Amino acid sequence: MPERFRYCVRMISWSNSQLPTHSPFSHDYTPPRKMGLGVIGLGEGRSIVSAAVSSRLWTLVNICDLNTELIAERKKEFGLECPGTTRMEELLVDPAIDAIAIYTPDALHAQHIRSTLEAGKHVICTKPLITDLSHGPSLLAAARAAGCQVLVGQSSRFIHPMWRQREDVVNGLHGALTAVEAHYFGDHRWFYTKPWTRGEGVNEVFQGLSHAVDLVRGHLPDIEEVMGYGLSTRHARALGQINPDALHFVMKTRSGELARVSGHYGQLTLANKAQDMIQCIVRGTEGVSIANFAQLNYQRRIMENGQAVEREEDFSAWHPYYWRFGGHSHHAGEFQNYLDHLARSLHEKTLARPDLRDGLRTVATLEAMNRSVKTGQPQRVSAVLAEFGLPELCGPV
Ligand SMILES: NC(=O)c1ccc[n+]([C@@H]2O[C@H](COP(=O)([O-])OP(=O)(O)OC[C@H]3O[C@@H](n4cnc5c(N)ncnc54)[C@H](O)[C@@H]3O)[C@@H](O)[C@H]2O)c1
Repeated sequence: MPERFRYCVRMISWSNSQLPTHSPFSHDYTPPRKMGLGVIGLGEGRSIVSAAVSSRLWTLVNICDLNTELIAERKKEFGLECPGTTRMEELLVDPAIDAIAIYTPDALHAQHIRSTLEAGKHVICTKPLITDLSHGPSLLAAARAAGCQVLVGQSSRFIHPMWRQREDVVNGLHGALTAVEAHYFGDHRWFYTKPWTRGEGVNEVFQGLSHAVDLVRGHLPDIEEVMGYGLSTRHARALGQINPDALHFVMKTRSGELARVSGHYGQLTLANKAQDMIQCIVRGTEGVSIANFAQLNYQRRIMENGQAVEREEDFSAWHPYYWRFGGHSHHAGEFQNYLDHLARSLHEKTLARPDLRDGLRTVATLEAMNRSVKTGQPQRVSAVLAEFGLPELCGPV
């Protein structure tokens, strides 16, 4: 099996009747030792803290945030005995920490990834991996020099319906793929109240659409040409957003398969029952499938012996595993899945995906999309990679 598909074969049990309290990546697995984790950024970092304390594969060694009240709140919420710190340097020099999970504002990711690698530790970085591709070459060099893994926390691909879809694609059930369509629609007005998101702090092409583009690239890694439009909604502008927050794109791979990606963030969205907030449709010569993130549901129609056979899988019993905090913001199950995926990969000496190269290729796709919105012209991902000194990432990575 090609390396880039290997991660798919570890989803072992889909049974709703035997819900594990830990991730599908660890329930049949006895680790040689627990890995030590440090977490920086305790807003959404709350999800990875929850994941780490529930995991059989990790020990949460320490947490870091500039906000001391938030440190105290997280320590109380999870009954943590670690000291907590406002200085990342304390995580970097702690020999009990094997990996640092980064959940700071987007613009700080590059510097925090680099420091972690230079300290000889593995990295988990939330999405978007980075928003300025000029950091790409030095991050690749730092990872190479450290011999450490960088796992991009593209949470959406680590949820049951998306994994089931991935398994079916890898197993060839769809035949030759012809098109993939993905969207992430969310009312982000609560998010735009955070001061760092104003002005250039957030660009939804990188922020929201990284979910949809990662889903598309999971099936069609070689997206080469992109074309799209965006507009700024009135509500988002009123909250200080200067980049477009309503976005639609079409795309093409080098070999001609098509993709469509959309996102809307500054206004009301439909209820998940009517249209799931994150959805991925895969179309191929032998079948079609749809994975629904919030509904935890997967449906497919596949040709079998000349007949279209329908199947629906409902993972809604996993709801408490994914949404641990009583609502739909801050969900942790998919974070636990990727955390355990990294631990197993480190133990087994395989590559955890999406890795740094794959993540940078996604960022290059997002940069091409951003340029298309700005210029009104189609853009090539290979041209972006060449401009930023990353020609080695052209083609599937
Ligand atoms: N589904 C997902 O994977 C998902 C969901 C939400 C947010 N995120 C990502 O998480 C990141 C943070 O978003 P958020 O909503 O948690 O923002 P937030 O503002 O709530 O949290 C960021 C935290 O980082 C801390 N911080 C900033 N600079 C720091 C530094 N130098 N050292 C230590 N701590 C520092 C801040 O004090 C703050 O508590 C963003 O990149 C966002 O895209 C990912």
